[in-house]
Amino acid sequence: MPTPILEKTPLIPGKTSKLVLQAPEIARHAHPGHFVMLRMRPTGERIPLTIADTDAEKGTITIVYLVLGKSTAELECLNAGDSILDVCGPLGHPTHIEKRGTVICVGGGTGIAAMHHIAKGHKRIGNKVVGVIGARSKDLLLFEDELRSFADELLISTDDGSYGHKGLVTDLLRDRLEKDKDVFEVVAVGPVPMMAAVADTTRPFNVKTTVSLNPIMVDGIGMCGACRVTVGGKTRFACVDGPEFDGHAVDFAELRRRLGAFREQEKISLDTFRSAHGN
Ligand SMILES: Cc1cc2nc3c(=O)[nH]c(=O)nc-3n(C[C@H](O)[C@H](O)[C@H](O)COP(=O)(O)OP(=O)(O)OC[C@H]3O[C@@H](n4cnc5c(N)ncnc54)[C@H](O)[C@@H]3O)c2cc1C
Ligand code: FES
Repeated sequence: MPTPILEKTPLIPGKTSKLVLQAPEIARHAHPGHFVMLRMRPTGERIPLTIADTDAEKGTITIVYLVLGKSTAELECLNAGDSILDVCGPLGHPTHIEKRGTVICVGGGTGIAAMHHIAKGHKRIGNKVVGVIGARSKDLLLFEDELRSFADELLISTDDGSYGHKGLVTDLLRDRLEKDKDVFEVVAVGPVPMMAAVADTTRPFNVKTTVSLNPIMVDGIGMCGACRVTVGGKTRFACVDGPEFDGHAVDFAELRRRLGAFREQEKISLDTFRSAHGN
């Protein structure tokens, strides 16, 4: 069923936008960690996007996306008042959230939006939430105000030093883990190299580390095998077994290889789309 777009907010013009969708059934059943599969055209591919927020009373869900290839470029062409052909969800397992103490939630790039929903879930249940977010520069930092509104602490890094600590989120994370021995879990959502670096950082501290994996997905319901990842030496399907896994057991090198498997075809597809649309 077509899903109306109620609001569109460009967060980084032309690159990243936030959409609020009218999806009452999904809003009623969604929890932090869930994702949806979207399709823009009858012959289009389905793409997975994390539910970054919900409002069950208003019947809305929020998604935030980075324009990378053809499908996200098509999505970026839609505006408030338009509809997305179909939005299926909530999919995947929700984040395991229990009251335990202090949790550090790390987000990078567009992953900050997804991490924000997980962090909110931890806060709601009574955990102390330390947010750690990073971007290449200040203008690429997302969801700072939203996180500030509920996080107990928010640590910020930028690669170029234009805001907060000059360096990587893992510098801030290592520093925090050295000072605070009571952290029961670290959650990381962001680019694959960032999640791999977070897992490497937490390993010597022996802190449970949960990462949200983003392999290429086709159906999102466990039928096609596209989202295969290796965790602890075992094959798992991110759409039905995840998308969250133990970061210390994930084969990140394989995930990175598999994400690049169709790069040439994806480039042709985006170039063809852009030349047909004159952008
Ligand atoms: C469970 C899950 C949740 C996700 N949540 C979000 C989200 O909230 N916001 C968001 O912006 N993105 C999210 N992603 C990634 C998003 O699905 C992809 O960026 C999107 O499918 C790319 O489609 P495309 O046709 O625009 O680009 P494509 O033409 O398919 O790809 C363009 C480039 O992006 C890379 N790419 C393709 N698929 C992925 C992927 N799954 N992850 C990372 N890089 C990819 C390709 O290697 C290529 O370099 C999520 C992925 C998963 C599996
Ligand atoms: S996307 Fe098809 S099995 Fe996961």
